[in-house]
Amino acid sequence: MEYKIAPSILSADWLNLGREVEKMNEADCDYVHYDVMDGKFVPEMSFGVTIMRNVKKVSTKPIDVHLMIEDPIRNVKSFATSGADIITVHAEACADIDETLDYIRYFNVPAALSVKPKTPVETVFPYLEKCSMILIMSVEPGFGGQAFMPEALEKIRILREEITRRGLDVDIEVDGGINMETVVLCKEAGANVFVSGSALFKGDLAANTAAMRALL
Ligand code: DX5
Ligand code: ZN
Repeated sequence: MEYKIAPSILSADWLNLGREVEKMNEADCDYVHYDVMDGKFVPEMSFGVTIMRNVKKVSTKPIDVHLMIEDPIRNVKSFATSGADIITVHAEACADIDETLDYIRYFNVPAALSVKPKTPVETVFPYLEKCSMILIMSVEPGFGGQAFMPEALEKIRILREEITRRGLDVDIEVDGGINMETVVLCKEAGANVFVSGSALFKGDLAANTAAMRALL
């Protein structure tokens, strides 16, 4: 299995964003995880497509866009045509999940579906064939720096079993409270893409990413 590390720039130093993206270029990570929040699906707002376009100009890594927004189909086109490399939407936020995933794929962008901690993992099962990745949230979405919820591990196990049973090639991403301990638990449960904000950006990004890589 291919293991991927996706530092979340929510935890980066926003007053020096260009430099932070350059640090990500230099680190042994696979994606830039880009958290979009609308103040409605989650309490806070973060950043939108304009800043993503600028990140894209500097980044040598694919941009993994995590849309924590209500009715995300409205924003799919602008992200898809502005350089998003993967677009994740929340099952809880879509008026029509099939239509939203189809619309992402229409732009030749891989589609991913996410579930919050209280949403059963089986919610994503009908859509697995359309998804390149499923994102299991291991915290309530909306803030960096929260503690990992161990309930996510059972969801990852059940999902990996179902993906294997169907013979599909779908990545399982986990997001929230991922550090040097929880990354190992998630890997053992069957996840292969690891989002990490505070644990990677606190201190030296390249050294932290290398330390996480050594555990995979
Ligand atoms: C939380 C975001 C995460 C967040 C992760 O809602 O989706 O991507 O940045 O941050 P940590 O790793 O600090 O929990
Ligand atoms: Zn995220």
